[in-house]
Amino acid sequence: MASCDLTHIIDHPLIRHDLTLVRDRDTPPARFRELVGRIGSLLAYEATRDLQTEPMDIVTPMQLCTGAKLSKPITIVPILRAGLGYAEAIHRLIPGAVMGHLGMYRDEVKLSPVDYYRSLPRQVSQGPVLLVDPMLATGGSAIAAVKLLREAGCTDLRLICLIAAPEGINALRQACGDVPIYTAAVDEKLNDKGYILPGLGDAGDRLFGTV
Ligand code: PRP
Ligand code: URA
Repeated sequence: MASCDLTHIIDHPLIRHDLTLVRDRDTPPARFRELVGRIGSLLAYEATRDLQTEPMDIVTPMQLCTGAKLSKPITIVPILRAGLGYAEAIHRLIPGAVMGHLGMYRDEVKLSPVDYYRSLPRQVSQGPVLLVDPMLATGGSAIAAVKLLREAGCTDLRLICLIAAPEGINALRQACGDVPIYTAAVDEKLNDKGYILPGLGDAGDRLFGTV
C-alpha cells in the first residue's frame, strides 16, 4: 500500500489486474459490476484495518476463550448511482453494517453536484462511515457528501473510491481536511468535461448499461 498523507493507494497485484479489466471499454456491464465489487471489497478491507475492537468472551466447543467484536456500528453510504456498484460487495464483507444512501448527480455543464435524495440511518454518527463512490473526479460530489455527513454528526469518515483524479484529491483536502481516501489508482488528470483520464468512462453508465 502506497500512502501519501491521508491518501492510501492500495497497490496490489489482484487489484491492478482487475482494475485493468474495469478500464477496458470492451468489458460488458455484468463483468464490470463483478470486478468493481471485488475491488471495492479489497479496498474496504484496507479501509477498515484500524477499526477498534473490544474483548468478548465466548465458549468454543472446547472451552471459554476471549475473542473480539467491533466496538462501534459501521455505516456504509454509497453515493447513487455508481456507488451502488460497490456498496453491495462491501456489505457482504461487513454484513453487520447498516446502509445509508445519498443521491447525487453532476450537472453536466457546471460539473457541480445536484443533491436529489438522502436517507441516513440513525446510527450514522455513532461509528465509522464508509462513503463509497467509484469516481473522485472534480471532488464536488464527495465534498458535498462529506459536508452532509458531518452535518449529520459523523466524525469518522473514510472515502472509498476506485479511481481518483489529482484535482479531486486536492479539492477534497482543501474543502474537508482530514478525510482519508482509499483508492486503487490516482490517474493523470481530468479532461475539459470533468472526466478522469485515462479513467474508465462513466462509471454509472458502465455499471448499469445505460450508455
Ligand atoms: C459520478 C460518480 C461521482 C461523480 C464524480 O456520478 O459516481 O458521484 O460522478 O464526479 P465529481 O468528483 O466531479 O463530483 P454521476 O454524476 O455520473 O452520476 P451517476 O452515478 O448517477 O451516474
Ligand atoms: N464520473 C464518472 O463516472 N467518470 C469520470 O471519469 C468522472 C466522473
